[in-house]
Amino acid sequence: MLLNKVSSAQVCKCYFEMLPYIKPYTFRTILAFAICIPVGGCDAVIAMALKPYTDLVMVEKSIRAAWYIPFAIVIFAIIQGILNYYASYLNTWVGERITRDLKLELYKKLLSHDAAFFDKTYSGNIVTNFSNLVDTASSGLFTKIKTIISKLASSISLICVLFYNSWELSIVAIIVLGCAFLPTAKIRQKMQDVMSKVIKGSAMLITEYNESCAGNKVITSYNLHKYQQIKFSSAINSVTQIRVKLIQKTAWLSPAMHVITSIGIGISIAYGSHLIVSKQMTSGSFVSFLTALLLLYNPLKNLGNSIKDFQMSMIAVESVLSSLNADVNIKDKKNAIELKEFKSGIVFRDVDFGYSPNCLVLESFSIEIKKGETVAFVGSSGSGKSTIANLIPRFYEINSGSIEIDGIDIRNYTLKSLRDGISVVFQDNFLFAGTIRENIVLGRDVSDNELQKAVEMACLSEFVSTLNNGLDTEIRERGLRLSGGQKQRVAIARAFLKNTPIIILDEATSSLDNEAEAIVQKAIDNLMIDRTVVIVAHRLSTIKNANRIAVINEGKLVELGPHEELMNIKNGRYKSLYEI
Ligand SMILES: Nc1ncnc2c1ncn2[C@@H]1O[C@H](COP(=O)(O)OP(=O)(O)O)[C@@H](O)[C@H]1O
Ligand SMILES: [Mg+2]
Repeated sequence: MLLNKVSSAQVCKCYFEMLPYIKPYTFRTILAFAICIPVGGCDAVIAMALKPYTDLVMVEKSIRAAWYIPFAIVIFAIIQGILNYYASYLNTWVGERITRDLKLELYKKLLSHDAAFFDKTYSGNIVTNFSNLVDTASSGLFTKIKTIISKLASSISLICVLFYNSWELSIVAIIVLGCAFLPTAKIRQKMQDVMSKVIKGSAMLITEYNESCAGNKVITSYNLHKYQQIKFSSAINSVTQIRVKLIQKTAWLSPAMHVITSIGIGISIAYGSHLIVSKQMTSGSFVSFLTALLLLYNPLKNLGNSIKDFQMSMIAVESVLSSLNADVNIKDKKNAIELKEFKSGIVFRDVDFGYSPNCLVLESFSIEIKKGETVAFVGSSGSGKSTIANLIPRFYEINSGSIEIDGIDIRNYTLKSLRDGISVVFQDNFLFAGTIRENIVLGRDVSDNELQKAVEMACLSEFVSTLNNGLDTEIRERGLRLSGGQKQRVAIARAFLKNTPIIILDEATSSLDNEAEAIVQKAIDNLMIDRTVVIVAHRLSTIKNANRIAVINEGKLVELGPHEELMNIKNGRYKSLYEI
């Protein structure tokens, strides 16, 4: 009856969609749910026992019954306790494993998303959707369901006791109790609205925490403490308000139920007394009935609350499933091939691309980069140079046209093989918490020799030798212990180990001072030897040394050629950039 209010179809759909995750634990899940039935059912024993107890002991004064009835009650309590323990254990066992599996699956999904996904998703939403909601979801599906099943069993068995003792009284009592629980239906819609608001608000808070860590220097240098506090407090206030408002709107339910139930009990007592006096009912039946009725209130109330929590979980399940089933934009084609060896070159053919649908950053962009060539991209800030660099390893999907490697559209290669063939050094390279060694090796299987060579070629040996723990020095989250130039050289050492035919350098020295730039440049020069290089740079010597220079303006290729050739173009864009 009560479950109807959550809509049994919705519940079934929920479990059905979760089926693939429940499947490995089917037997235990069924067992866990099944045990809950006797756990609840045992609640009826005391009420049931009071009938013979009252009739035999209190009315007929039988001493035998006085002995075995309490004994039976204790035995049942022990059985119920043991079953309850196993119900909790099994439900947790299943719930925790499914939570783990879901989180693993979600993490895999998260990693498979493309750059555009991370551009538009707040970190707080990621933590909420890919982790926290899984806990909410499975706590409902596996912990709350234990309460729901056992309380449902308890209610049904107690209702049976009611009917066993007196059907007339039972009908009266059930009508009144039914009225008491009607309003729970009203709460459902409110819960849904509030729940989604709370989820959004909490995600916002996590984003604030993350920004406070990552941006702590900006916060300190601009004295943003107050500003951040205000932002944070407005976010947390709105969550608090929503929560309080929910209670304000729903807390009347419990006392209202209590009053209505008391009325039910009052009516039952009055009517029951009449039945006893007119000898239509024994005292035992009445005591048993009343006990069952009193006991019934608790599971019914519990059921109401659990169903409320269960609704929350179902909203969480929906959200988790939608994260799990969300389309990944950039993935391998069905018959994707391996990019085994880079043979001839990279071609952009009439490429249109924009980060958002109606705003093109690159328009009919075409260029051919031959194997072994170094092409430098120059142009004013925001002209689209990094965008071009990001499209080669397919960080983003182009709108139209094609990008080809060795004459084959890069969308036909497996993502893994494509990215295995390209090393990218960005302006700001992310370092993981861990040692310098771990940050260079990145899980690869490399010999000490190879590592030493990469460190040397990346001009890191001298720096590493000054560290007490050498390559095993911990660098903490985001590489906090290293200077900009050192971080860049760690990134270059990674590229050396990866040893790919194609290298992309996007302003790899732009954020460095002259001294740091010189040494990083040396490392870059080492890296560029015998490779195909796409370089976005501001340093003149790097640009001049490139085989060809591509001048980009507002997403279009405006000039292309070697330095001297471009310098000879009258009023040329390159010439004017050079002169600046
Ligand atoms: N992740 C992004 N999301 C939305 N717009 C972006 C993103 N990255 C760059 N842009 C926009 O695309 C244009 C080209 O940027 P970019 O390729 O980074 O320029 P450049 O590297 O030449 O300075 C700019 O207008 C920039 O604002
Ligand atoms: Mg850029």
